[in-house]
Amino acid sequence: MTSQPESTRNEIQRPAAEALYADELSRLASADGDAPRPEGWRLTPRSVLDFVLGHAANGISPKFVGSRSLLERCVVALATSRGLMLIGEPGTAKSYLSELLAAAISGDSTLIIQGSAGTTEDAIKYSWNYALLLAEGPTEQALVPAPLYRGMREGKIVRFEEITRCPLEIQDTLLSILSDRVMAIPEREDNGRNLFARVGFNIIATANTRDRGVNEMSAALKRRFNFETIPPIADLQHEMELVQRETTRLLGRAGVPVTLPPELTELLVTTFHELRSGKTADGKALETLSTVMSTAEAVSVGFAAGIHAYYYDSGKLAPRHLLQSLLGSAFKESPDDRDKLRHYFNHVVKERRGAAWRAFYEALRNEG
Ligand SMILES: Nc1ncnc2c1ncn2[C@@H]1O[C@H](COP(=O)(O)OP(=O)(O)OP(=O)(O)O)[C@@H](O)[C@H]1O
Ligand SMILES: [Mg+2]
Repeated sequence: MTSQPESTRNEIQRPAAEALYADELSRLASADGDAPRPEGWRLTPRSVLDFVLGHAANGISPKFVGSRSLLERCVVALATSRGLMLIGEPGTAKSYLSELLAAAISGDSTLIIQGSAGTTEDAIKYSWNYALLLAEGPTEQALVPAPLYRGMREGKIVRFEEITRCPLEIQDTLLSILSDRVMAIPEREDNGRNLFARVGFNIIATANTRDRGVNEMSAALKRRFNFETIPPIADLQHEMELVQRETTRLLGRAGVPVTLPPELTELLVTTFHELRSGKTADGKALETLSTVMSTAEAVSVGFAAGIHAYYYDSGKLAPRHLLQSLLGSAFKESPDDRDKLRHYFNHVVKERRGAAWRAFYEALRNEG
């Protein structure tokens, strides 16, 4: 094993989309020229879509896998006076889609509010630098802007992650901002009292359907968002392509010269797809696990299996490496899942033809 070259030691673990795809974004922007677009947007709505979905002929890489019409509705919503709310099961790329949209529209996907039971208004709007506040009063310099303030001031998309985990009164901070597009700063003097949002500002919120109900959103706030449900990837072939692409990219970034062989990608994705949908490719009914078998999870299983094979084995990725990481990811919720997985192996995996499936089956048997 060679040690890592000096040049990679200072690399950022996960660059923001606008940095990672800076080249694609600038090419799309020059191709757009001064074509009409919503005020404050970096790209035309057509280029935003090409960026998110990819455009092979123009050298734009595929990123989010989903229907074009869903994406069109999302982009249109952002050009209106309502926010965009992405909801769905965990691991369906809601956060990833909001990052891509923010990068394409504002050239900045980093204005993020992380929703949790402890999210305060300070973390959404602004707070004060107390030393300056005492020294000079509530001046512009003493104000410490939070993401919403910055998005309004700079005319950018703000991302509100997991909004339904916030207490209702915190969620409702957004009410007047979304309708009147102005934030009141009562501490400031006359002309600083109101921050009027610049064009280009809007909000993309995400919420996980498994969490919803913890804090249901108010009807008033719901009215200020367009809701879009992001479904899991329905097409097995598309899911396989994505998992292959993403694991290759992640292993490459980790400096691990291992790839997931296509027959193992097929095995991994088929297993996830069947356990998620509750039926096999040939129509047999299955019991679904209580753990969400998301595409994001399949990517992490493939990635972990590659790391495992590289550091502890010869570097040849085998079905047992997949099984090891699958066991780690599939039993988060309930002990019953273990029985359901075993049932799947005994009734489905066992019957499948091919060396990879057989080795997969044997791997679970060896686990005892
Ligand atoms: N339709 C999809 N298109 C592209 N990538 C996908 C898709 N579905 C899942 N993924 C994978 O999932 C990862 C992103 O998951 P992300 O964290 O955005 O999901 P999420 O829906 O926000 O989940 P959570 O509800 O847990 O926050 C991507 O990096 C990608 O590897
Ligand atoms: Mg998310």
